[in-house]
Amino acid sequence: MVVVDHRRTSAGFALLVVPDTTSAALQVAQLLVDELQQQRQPLGLATGRTMEPVYRALVDELAGWSSPARARLLGSWQSFNLDEYMGIGPGHPGSFAAYMAHHLVDPLGLDPARVCLPDGLAADLAAEALRYSRALAAAGGIGLQLLGLGLNGHVGFNEPPCGPEAGTRVVDLCPTTRAQNAAAFGGDPAAVPAQAITLGLAEIRAASRIVLVVTGAAKAPVLTRLLQEPPSPALPASWLQGHPAVTVVADRAALQEGPG
Ligand code: GLP
Repeated sequence: MVVVDHRRTSAGFALLVVPDTTSAALQVAQLLVDELQQQRQPLGLATGRTMEPVYRALVDELAGWSSPARARLLGSWQSFNLDEYMGIGPGHPGSFAAYMAHHLVDPLGLDPARVCLPDGLAADLAAEALRYSRALAAAGGIGLQLLGLGLNGHVGFNEPPCGPEAGTRVVDLCPTTRAQNAAAFGGDPAAVPAQAITLGLAEIRAASRIVLVVTGAAKAPVLTRLLQEPPSPALPASWLQGHPAVTVVADRAALQEGPG
């Protein structure tokens, strides 16, 4: 059993402290199962390395379920991803569409039409951002929003500086973000697309519940900032303060704490 330490931060977040990445993944996978069982609003999903063990844990958990129980849980799946690179499509291994196919759609046998992402190959980017935000609104907005944390404090691709009212839109990616995500593009930051469509902080903050997952020592500096600094455009994730239901799931490495 995973030992979880429940705290509340001065920024108003519920903080779940777990020993390591594996424990974080198990905790978050369970939250996703709980949310899917209620099936009220679409899930908001993130990509990135932080979510890989989370999605693996979800797939492993459901592999132990009977087929009817799985079918019941997954039958009305609907999710909206936070973001997608522009200029590449699902056939590109670096696209978030390919990531979702690999980590969730294929292993869970989901209907791809129910796993929504912006279309990276859209000819008119602004129109695609508008279409995506309207599709989300028509589906009822996000229920549980899963978030990772960028090294520069971004959530989704809401790069600093960013205010709390920013909506779904086309964004230019920061050099730090392109470097952070270069591994999926042969290690070359210049090969990472320069633009993306992201859900805005407005749509993220409108979610019923937010779960921010932060693991690994590399995230310690930005997590420290998030837990200590007042909200500001310099740290987009800081606008999660004030939301009534934010849970931060962090491992001891990200919190710079030794084994408990
Ligand atoms: C990426 C994505 C986010 C992700 C974050 C953290 O750029 N746009 O959705 O959560 O940055 O990525 P990672 O988990 O790889 O550290």
